[in-house]
Amino acid sequence: MSRRNLIIFICFAIMAFGTVVAASVVWMRGGPFGPAGTVTTTGTALVGGPFTLTAHTGERVTPESFRGRYMLIYFGYTYCPDVCPGALQIVSVALDALGEKAEQVQPIFITVDPQRDTVEQMAQYVPYFSDRLIGLTGSEEEIAEAAHAYRVYYARAEDDSSTEYLMDHTSILYLMDPEGNFVAHFPYGTDPDALTKELQKHLG
Ligand code: NI
Repeated sequence: MSRRNLIIFICFAIMAFGTVVAASVVWMRGGPFGPAGTVTTTGTALVGGPFTLTAHTGERVTPESFRGRYMLIYFGYTYCPDVCPGALQIVSVALDALGEKAEQVQPIFITVDPQRDTVEQMAQYVPYFSDRLIGLTGSEEEIAEAAHAYRVYYARAEDDSSTEYLMDHTSILYLMDPEGNFVAHFPYGTDPDALTKELQKHLG
């Protein structure tokens, strides 16, 4: 290798290394489940889609029922011992801190346990957290369709030692815009202050 070629080779090697480093930094900061906690999509939304469910008030609803308002969607179940109550409490506190801007947001709790979470059960549970909160349930198929649209995993936990079964489920909060498009997600453990700040960024 001539001296000139060697210098060119070294320059390319440095550039290639730099590109890899830059790409990893971007990936670590902004990866789909990176520590930033939010992702803004520019193309086709991978999260969200049609559903038809029954509200705790008895009304049948679809995403179109909430058009014009942001939807803050969480999947869980009323018999959940800690994760779901914690998440719903955080949503309630974060929305209260938003003041009047909270009117732009509809918090929605969709059950992954329709067998026990009947309309009556949801009607008893939901007001415990917030008057703003809407609880949605439906048939096994309707719930499966909604969970699939939002990429939510859920399954009945196998445990014969208890008559009260538990559900394994994804614990992620989704923010959808007034047209129903995905805006951001908040992973399990997001605190109310962080949620309020993130919501303020997106609300008008
Ligand atoms: Ni839960």
